[in-house]
Amino acid sequence: MAAPSESAPAVLYVDDELINLRVFEANFRSRFRIFTCLSGEEALELLAQKGQEIAVVISDQRMPGMTGVEFLERARAMLPDTRRMLLTAYSDMQAVMDAVNRGQVVRYFVKPWVKEELAAALDDAIGIFSLQNRVREIESRMLRSERLAVLGQVSAGVAHELMNPVSYLTQNIGTLRREVEVIRAWAMPRIDPSRDAEVMQSLGELPSILDDVETGAQHIRQVALAIRSQARGEDQEAQADLRDVAEFAVKLARAEVRTRARIQLRGDSLKVAVGPVKLCQVLLNLMVNSAQAMEGLARPGLIEVRWWRADERAHVEIADNGSGIAPEIMDRIFEPLFTTKPVGTGTGLGLPIVKDIVERAGGTLSVTSTVGVGTTFRLTLPLAAA
Ligand SMILES: Nc1ncnc2c1ncn2[C@@H]1O[C@H](COP(=O)(O)OP(=O)(O)OP(=O)(O)O)[C@@H](O)[C@H]1O
Ligand SMILES: [Mg+2]
Repeated sequence: MAAPSESAPAVLYVDDELINLRVFEANFRSRFRIFTCLSGEEALELLAQKGQEIAVVISDQRMPGMTGVEFLERARAMLPDTRRMLLTAYSDMQAVMDAVNRGQVVRYFVKPWVKEELAAALDDAIGIFSLQNRVREIESRMLRSERLAVLGQVSAGVAHELMNPVSYLTQNIGTLRREVEVIRAWAMPRIDPSRDAEVMQSLGELPSILDDVETGAQHIRQVALAIRSQARGEDQEAQADLRDVAEFAVKLARAEVRTRARIQLRGDSLKVAVGPVKLCQVLLNLMVNSAQAMEGLARPGLIEVRWWRADERAHVEIADNGSGIAPEIMDRIFEPLFTTKPVGTGTGLGLPIVKDIVERAGGTLSVTSTVGVGTTFRLTLPLAAA
């Protein structure tokens, strides 16, 4: 039989007699990955460190200090999923029956044990442990996709609700622009620049403010349309230029970024196989996250967005010198609704949306981060067909 692999679920055997541990190892080493301990106390320490690797705990009942049943009871509190078994002499039968009845132990063996019987039981237990893990993994994956599906429906509803107000917003901007022109045409010749410099400046700035409002409204409209068509299962073939979209995203991010950081763009025109609205959502979310990561830091914030072409793909990096991401939450940042930001600032939807868009487009997304130094998100995207 092949030697057990480094990552195979392990068996922990606890017995106060060294010779018993040796015999057990000699018998099962070739079939299972084995840990051994000479006391319940020592075993609990090992479980605290290596618990995730251990599928089966098997303990002698009669030990000085903690008995086998006592030890297994505490092991159960720490790691409810491990399969627990007891080795015992006939004279201890009552304690064993109690333990079995209370669910502390799944099986017991009367000493001296029979090799084949014990091996079969260990095999079964490891099988059950692995299945339990698998079920749990599938459960969490289902929960995740269920949450995403619900989110999809909710956002389609929201997108739908947005369409009307956005339409009259864009229509009214056109009207407003014409009205402003009338007022400007009337006022400009009548203003004395030496006395009314401020009014003159305001009138001068109005058209570009209107441009910004219009650009924002257009973006909302495009995003709403894109969400709606995605919810209907229509996936438009599309492409966009990284440089154009990055510049546009910087504009949209301006309100969030302005006081916190400087954004630097580095890269030439490069066409990728993602639509401009989706690409903008990706870059915008990452830029805003970077800007928000500067909150409360004394140093001047810098966000670098770079892209280049290599190996027939587009590579994009969004690097910031913000707070960084703590290693213990690294696994969770792409989860829908996971946020570390106060209510009203974050909903925890940015990164799951980014990941979804990038992966649907056939790209990849990864992140590296050092707390106190900064964070870099890296994307690859397929190039647009020539
Ligand atoms: N550049 C970054 N620097 C530090 N932490 C980050 C960065 N990007 C993301 N995070 C962490 O990941 C979490 C999830 O990000 P995500 O964009 O999904 O949600 P959010 O920004 O909290 O809310 P939303 O994007 O919905 O407004 C953030 O709350 C933050 O803790
Ligand atoms: Mg965000």
